[in-house]
Amino acid sequence: MDSSIFDLISQETERQKKTLMMIPSENYTYDEVRRAVGSVLMHKYAEGYPNRRYYQGNKIIDQVEDLARNRALEAFGLDSKAWSVNVQPHSGSEANLAVYNALLDVGDRIMSMFLPDGGHLSHGWQVGDKKVTLVSKIYSVAFYKLNPETRLLDYEAIEKQAEEFKPKLMISGGTAYPREIDYQRLALIAHKVGAYFMADVAHEAGLISAGAVKSPFEFADVVTMTTHKTLRGPRGAIIFSKKELGEAIDSSIIPGIQGGPHLHTIAGIAVALEKTKTDEFKKYAMQTVVNARALAGVLLDGGLDVVSGGTDKHLVLVDLRPSASSGWFVAWALEAAGIIVNRNAVPNETASPFYPSGIRMGTQALTVRGMKETEMKLIGGWILKVVERVGIVALPEDKLQRNSYLSEFLKKIEGDKQLSGIKKEVEELCSRFPVPEL
Ligand SMILES: Cc1ncc(COP(=O)(O)O)c(C=O)c1O
Repeated sequence: MDSSIFDLISQETERQKKTLMMIPSENYTYDEVRRAVGSVLMHKYAEGYPNRRYYQGNKIIDQVEDLARNRALEAFGLDSKAWSVNVQPHSGSEANLAVYNALLDVGDRIMSMFLPDGGHLSHGWQVGDKKVTLVSKIYSVAFYKLNPETRLLDYEAIEKQAEEFKPKLMISGGTAYPREIDYQRLALIAHKVGAYFMADVAHEAGLISAGAVKSPFEFADVVTMTTHKTLRGPRGAIIFSKKELGEAIDSSIIPGIQGGPHLHTIAGIAVALEKTKTDEFKKYAMQTVVNARALAGVLLDGGLDVVSGGTDKHLVLVDLRPSASSGWFVAWALEAAGIIVNRNAVPNETASPFYPSGIRMGTQALTVRGMKETEMKLIGGWILKVVERVGIVALPEDKLQRNSYLSEFLKKIEGDKQLSGIKKEVEELCSRFPVPEL
């Protein structure tokens, strides 16, 4: 036994049990999924697709991938005559890249959401003229922004921009937009200017399959999703496309950008997809949203600036600038209290990505533990206390020599009695709501 690694895995298991997992892109998966992912399927090479492999010995493997594909279509109520599905992308970023590679030529135009307003790196992010992503080097990308006052998508402005920019691909979705997206409206805009419409529902996938939020399938040409967030599967991704685009997308994955599929992961995805059909999963997804709304309500009542005034999904975004703080301070102080969130950019961002102005939280993993509105009130109360404490112990960032002050701040919060008091309460809550199957 490699004790160095397995000791670390035990420590990480304990950490996951004893802290509140509130990063919206994470989740606890099922024991069956972990078993599938750790199975002998990882020994097999299977370049190609079922019944069209470049390797021998794939009769069983083909059945695994077919099961995953069929379950994916079923999980979203799709007809196999109208939709193609590819379960091979190694992650959400590769899924998106494969779509661009299938539908676009070098230099073609993409329109996607501005990253600090909640968009995602894989949608072609670039900082001004600095092309920080491969996608921005290959394609010409323009970003649409939120309405600065409402901090909501401004469909009229997007339409005007699309008419001027004339993209070939319009992308919706992101990592930190807490509200429903009007997929119908975006599809109309995209199609009016002759663009494909791709909905990236990496975050919402599980909520969509359960009917807890709106579905893009009626309107989009392509839908991409990760499998490890609200869907509760292993790390991976799925691409759904209108039938006529399916072949191009399949060959964009292989030979286009990937090699052999990870069949152990695909088996884990199949297990998670099957679970979405259960009433238990549907209840879970609905409760996740109810919990996020409850949490947003507590934070709003406590005087925090909840972006857009609430949420329609699993995630809550808070702009900390009105509380005279920043995401970096609050995220570290919350970690000292056993509450794991991530610091995040917010609309109208003025700070750098490493020291952004907000925090982003999700309820999808707390809900797996069986927590409900009562617990959200408790957790929201702790978050308010931590923000207040940071206001007392942290000095405004710009008044200090950053590096020396940041490490001084970390030392200060480590020994802070109020934060360690909350940590004890968090651990007590965690022991009352154990993570299933962990
Ligand atoms: C909207 C969106 N798209 C794509 C991705 C990329 O997924 P991955 O990290 O699996 O590459 C993410 C991940 O958080 C995401 O939020």
